Amino acid sequence: MSGPVGERVRWGILATGGIAATFTADLVDLPDAEVVAVASRSMDSAKAFAERFGIPRAYGDWASLAADEDVDVVYVATPHAAHRAAAGLCLEAGRNVLLEKPFTLNAREAEELVALARQHGGFLMEAMWMYCNPLVRRLADLVRDGAIGEVRTVQADFGLAGSFPPSHRLRDPAQGGGALLDLGVYPVSFAQLLLGEPADVTARATLSEEGVDLQTGALLSWENGALAQLHCSIVGGTSTSAYITGSHGRIDVPYGFFFPEHFVLHRDGREPETFKADPAAGPRNSLKHEALEVMRALRAGETESPLVPLDGTLAVMRTLDAIRSRVGVRYPGEE
Ligand SMILES: NC(=O)c1ccc[n+]([C@@H]2O[C@H](COP(=O)([O-])OP(=O)(O)OC[C@H]3O[C@@H](n4cnc5c(N)ncnc54)[C@H](OP(=O)(O)O)[C@@H]3O)[C@@H](O)[C@H]2O)c1
Repeated sequence: MSGPVGERVRWGILATGGIAATFTADLVDLPDAEVVAVASRSMDSAKAFAERFGIPRAYGDWASLAADEDVDVVYVATPHAAHRAAAGLCLEAGRNVLLEKPFTLNAREAEELVALARQHGGFLMEAMWMYCNPLVRRLADLVRDGAIGEVRTVQADFGLAGSFPPSHRLRDPAQGGGALLDLGVYPVSFAQLLLGEPADVTARATLSEEGVDLQTGALLSWENGALAQLHCSIVGGTSTSAYITGSHGRIDVPYGFFFPEHFVLHRDGREPETFKADPAAGPRNSLKHEALEVMRALRAGETESPLVPLDGTLAVMRTLDAIRSRVGVRYPGEE
């Protein structure tokens, strides 16, 4: 396993696509982070990415990055279907890993990765940046402290209007396509942040010709009677908002519930209170909070983050599996 980390945490980037570039741009802005290596399936892409961000080492394969002992933590940003293989390679080689959402294609793969991390003593975290967002954390604390009483319902949605061609990874079953794993993971993770793992799941979806979900509606229920009504789509831009209703009030989170600009707390019998994002914390959509949490945890010698615990990630993966089983979405290689 990687040794103790120093003052500056040395990052490796695995894959050179859209979110890898966004995350790396946020990392290079952090004074205590250093991006020291990048790996791609192609040496040309690795070199171009390295040049763009001033990264000293470029690898044309994943194994070389996994074997690089001068890397403290690897950020894995491949399409979902490759998460298990890429993160597994790094964990087996003794690297710590921050793995993009959705963690894996299914709960079985997620359990395999968690077992590998525990076996090798490595740090592993899902890049569920929403859980590291300061305003989302404030909201969760308020709910946990009973600001709206007992949570009765959660509603949340995330949909994009983009007309994705069949070749796009979001439409490709071989890459874990569909709205649920890419976008639905946010509403599901939000509901489970507040209520934990549901006791039961029902769902309906509109499927594409390729057999991935174009849009999915899910109803989750808990033993105490709480319900979550969740929606995701790759064929319609939704309001991407969330509403939490409790026994003594409610919280409204307008557009961008997973990186909110503000939310409004309505306590029964009191004036509404607005909680705003701190402009000093940087742009709302910054991924730096999750990077800071990884670096804090590594310096503290932790093998998982209390903000994004692996048990929570596994519980989300089980819910995503349950939703997919209700709507009939299976990926190649799944039984
Ligand atoms: N946290 C967030 O806000 C956020 C936002 C967007 C996406 N994501 C997640 O990040 C992951 C990547 O999304 P993206 O939008 O960055 O995708 P993308 O732009 O398509 O990039 C993915 C990269 O992975 C590599 N790759 C492509 N196909 C592959 C395959 N079949 N097997 C292995 N590697 C492959 C490629 O890099 P090389 O050519 O260098 O190998 C590619 O550039 C997804 O799991 C997605 O859910 C997270």
